[in-house]
Amino acid sequence: MEKRNIPISLPVTGEAEWAATKQCFDSGWLTSGPKVREFEQLFAKRHQVKHALAVTSATTALHLALVALGVGPGDEVVVPAFTWVSTANVVLHCGAKVVFCDVSTSTFNLDPTKIAACLTSRTKAIMVVHLFGLCADMDAIRAIAGSIPLIEDAACAAGSGYKGTPAGALGTMGCFSFHPRKSVTTGEGGMLTTNDDSLAELCSNLRNHGASISEEQRHHGPRPYILPDFNLLGYNYRMTDLQGAVGVVQIQRLDEFINERAQWADYYRRELTGLDWLKTPEFSADYHHGWQSFVTLIDEAKSPMKRNDLMEFLQQKGVSTRPGTHAVHMLSYYQRTMGTRPDDFPGARDCDQLSMSIPLHNRMVAEDYAYVVAALKSA
Ligand SMILES: Cc1ncc(COP(=O)(O)O)c(C=O)c1O
Repeated sequence: MEKRNIPISLPVTGEAEWAATKQCFDSGWLTSGPKVREFEQLFAKRHQVKHALAVTSATTALHLALVALGVGPGDEVVVPAFTWVSTANVVLHCGAKVVFCDVSTSTFNLDPTKIAACLTSRTKAIMVVHLFGLCADMDAIRAIAGSIPLIEDAACAAGSGYKGTPAGALGTMGCFSFHPRKSVTTGEGGMLTTNDDSLAELCSNLRNHGASISEEQRHHGPRPYILPDFNLLGYNYRMTDLQGAVGVVQIQRLDEFINERAQWADYYRRELTGLDWLKTPEFSADYHHGWQSFVTLIDEAKSPMKRNDLMEFLQQKGVSTRPGTHAVHMLSYYQRTMGTRPDDFPGARDCDQLSMSIPLHNRMVAEDYAYVVAALKSA
């Protein structure tokens, strides 16, 4: 078979994104404006939430969510031990304590049976990550959490769902990413979703330097020539209209992208069943997988080579792979400052060392998928 080069991920952008961006340049409106508002409205509709607030990244959405809940020194926030590092970093930026919780090696998400032991009277929130596009087991988590707010880290979960409800509408607030490795992209960017009117207003003000709309402006409608008051310590987490314009085009293709990915995810699962050392994602009909990534788990007791050697072998063949994500408690900063050790969270440790994401994106063609399968089988 002729050698192909297949990147782990590539965004689909083209003439429509160019044209939409050009409109911003033509109008001269480059910061948050009409395109961002249109993107927010389309995003809110697709995810069945009252409010969607565009921000600069999922990380800043997560930070805003914690600030809006008043998380600060003395508080604890539960974070899955296997996730992108920023899910935990934002807790530290608030001056609160990260309480890691182990994950399930079959879903890569929070293991509900491990959560209760993480809760104390100081628990202010739980970061519920829907990793790689698969929602966490929300019913089980809600039953344990009671009234503790759930912040959905839906960075990978645009368009995903659980029991008929979209990600972003399953918790107190949802935080999405539009980094180019996600199913829809704005280059960088994020979205915060909520059904809570006061949290939405607070987050909207916080993302814009803490600017509040005065009663006078509320009454008369926006008057841009009147300076707002700043009664909160805020941030500049505003998305640009250039990104909003790209988002408007991308969000309208989200379901098309996911459906295509789902088709090829099924193909992988079918074609790779013969490899007893490679575990492919499994989930029940309760879950609508968003397929941000296709992440496998290697059983090194049976596999022809260790995970890292297999990744090297595939790279030689032109197939890019990545570890799923990090066990955050194993990263140097967290080991040094929290004294965590790899074996503290064995599920996360195994996911860190044995997971392997293989290419699944909307720039791949049938021959690419067949090539990846053949490369894996040739190992
Ligand atoms: C689970 C998770 N949380 C948060 C993030 C951060 O997203 P962003 O790059 O938009 O800040 C990512 C990005 O990969 C992620 O996978």
